[in-house]
Amino acid sequence: MMNHSQPQGADYNYTVVRQFALTTVLWGIVGMSIGVLIAAQLIWPQLNFDTPWLTYSRLRPLHTNAVIFAFGTSALFATSYYIVQRTCQTRLFAPKLAAFTFWGWQAIILSAVITLPLGLTSTKEYAELEWPIDIAIAVVWVTYAIVFFGTIVKRTTSHIYVANWFFGAFIITVAVLHIVNSMAIPVSMFKSYSLYSGAVDAMVQWWYGHNAVGFLLTAGFLGMMYYFVPKQAGRPVYSYRLSIVHFWALIALYIWAGPHHLHYTALPDWTQSLGMVMSLILFAPSWGGMINGIMTLSGAWHKLRTDPILRFLVVSLSFYGMSTFEGPMMAIKTVNALSHYTDWTIGHVHSGALGWVAMVSIGSLYHLIPSVYGHGRMYSTQLINVHFWLATIGTVLYIVSMWISGVMQGLMWRAVNSDGTLTYSFVEGLEASYPFYFVRFLGGVFFVTGMLLMAYNVFKTVKAPKESLPALAEA
Ligand code: HEM
Ligand code: HEM
Repeated sequence: MMNHSQPQGADYNYTVVRQFALTTVLWGIVGMSIGVLIAAQLIWPQLNFDTPWLTYSRLRPLHTNAVIFAFGTSALFATSYYIVQRTCQTRLFAPKLAAFTFWGWQAIILSAVITLPLGLTSTKEYAELEWPIDIAIAVVWVTYAIVFFGTIVKRTTSHIYVANWFFGAFIITVAVLHIVNSMAIPVSMFKSYSLYSGAVDAMVQWWYGHNAVGFLLTAGFLGMMYYFVPKQAGRPVYSYRLSIVHFWALIALYIWAGPHHLHYTALPDWTQSLGMVMSLILFAPSWGGMINGIMTLSGAWHKLRTDPILRFLVVSLSFYGMSTFEGPMMAIKTVNALSHYTDWTIGHVHSGALGWVAMVSIGSLYHLIPSVYGHGRMYSTQLINVHFWLATIGTVLYIVSMWISGVMQGLMWRAVNSDGTLTYSFVEGLEASYPFYFVRFLGGVFFVTGMLLMAYNVFKTVKAPKESLPALAEA
C-alpha cells in the first residue's frame, strides 16, 4: 500500500480537485435529471411540449454526453488529480495547465449543452459533438495527459501505484480513440462529414464506442476503485500481483471487442466472431479485478455495518461484476440476436452506468470531499446512508424493469404464427413495455433524489467551520 508520510495535505494542489469534485455533483444532477425527463417522455410523449429542442431525439444525446463526459469525466479528473498527487507524494505538475483543463472542460460541456439541443450533431454515438468542439476536446485532453504524466515523472516515490496505471491507460487511450474517430471534413462551422464511410465508418465508430466503455467507463473507474476501496476499508489491496495481471489483461483484450456492437451487419463475419470471442475472454480479467476489490475487505467486513461509503464502493463492485458477466453473454451472437435493439441493452448499460460508474464515483467523492476541504468526515453520515439506499433501490428498479421489458420485446418481435406471419405488431410490443417504462422512471427519480441529498451534504461540508467535522472513531 502507499505510504503517505511525506508531504501533508496542505502541500498538494487541491484547488482543481475541489472544482472538479463540485462540478461532478452538479453535472450528475443535470445529466440524470435529463435522463429522468427522457424516461418520462417515453411514457408521456407530450412532455416535449412541441418544442424542437426538447424532443427526445435531441435530449437523449444530451443525457449521454452529460452523464458520461460532464459527470463521469469530472469525477475522473477530480480523483485522478487527487490520487496521482498523494500516491506520488508530490504536487501536480504545471498547475496553470491543470487549471486550464478545468475551465476548458467546462467550456466544452457548455458548448455541448447549447449545440445538442439545437440539433447540431455529427450523429456518431457518444461522439456527437461537431468538429470545433472535437478539436477543443483534443487540446484539453492532451493538456490533461501532460499534467498527469508530468506529475508521475516528478514523483518522489520509487514505484507507480497501480491506480495510476489505470488512469494513465485511460488518458492515453481516450486521446487516441477520440482523435481517430473524430477525423472529419468540415463543410461549414457546424457541419462536417466523417473521413470514413460505410462499414469502415461503423467499425471505427464501435472501436471507439466500445473502448470508451472499456477505458473511460471502466479503466478510469478501476483506478478510483484501487485507491478508495483500500483507503476506506483501511486494508491493503488484496493482491497487488492480481492487480497487475488485471491491468495488462484488460488492456490487451478490450481493444478487440468493439464488433460485438455490430453483429449481423455488413461487417466481415470474422470480425464479428473475433469481437465475440474477445468479449467472452474479457470476463476473466473483469472478474479478477472485481474479486480483488471485494477481497480487499477481508478482515474489514464488519465496517460495512456502519460505513455507508464503503457500502457504496462494495455495491458498485457487485454491479461491475454483474455487468461484466452480462456483457460477454450479450456478445454471443445468438444471444445478441434477441437482446439487440431491445431494452435489455439499456438495462445492461445502466447496470454499468448507475450501479458501477455512478456508485463508485459517489463513494469516492464522499471520501475525497472532506479530505480536500480539511475535514475528517462528511457533514452527515446518516444522509450518506439514505443516499446509499435511494441509489441502490433506484438502480435495481431501473435494471430489473429493463431486463423484463427487453426480453419480452425480443420474444414478442420474433414470435411467429404457424403460417409464418408475425404474432405481434410492433405497437403491441410497445404497449406491453409501458408499465416497465414507468418503473424505470421511478428508479430514475429515486436516483436523482439521492443526488440532491448528496448536493446538500456536500454544501454543508464545504461550508462547515474548520475542525467542526472530526473523523469518527472506528467502530
Ligand atoms: C437517473 C438516472 C438515469 C436515468 C433515469 C437514465 C435514463 C435513460 C434513458 C431513458 C435512456 C434512453 C433509453 C432508450 O433510448 O431506450 C438512457 C440512455 C443512456 N444512458 Fe441513462 N439514465 C440515467 C443515468 C445514467 C448514467 C449515470 C449514465 C452513465 C454514466 C447513463 C448512460 C446512458 C447511456 C450510455 C445511454 C445510451 C444507451 C444506449 O444507446 O444503448 N445514464 N438513459
Ligand atoms: C466484459 C465487459 C463487457 C462486455 C463484453 C460488454 C458487452 C456488451 C454488448 C455485447 C453490448 C450490446 C451491443 C449491442 O447489441 O448493440 C453492450 C452494450 C453496451 N455496454 Fe457493455 N459490456 C461490458 C461491460 C460494460 C460496462 C462495465 C459498461 C459501463 C459502464 C458497459 C456499457 C455499455 C454501453 C453504454 C452499451 C450500449 C452501447 C450502445 O449501443 O449505445 N458495458 N455491451
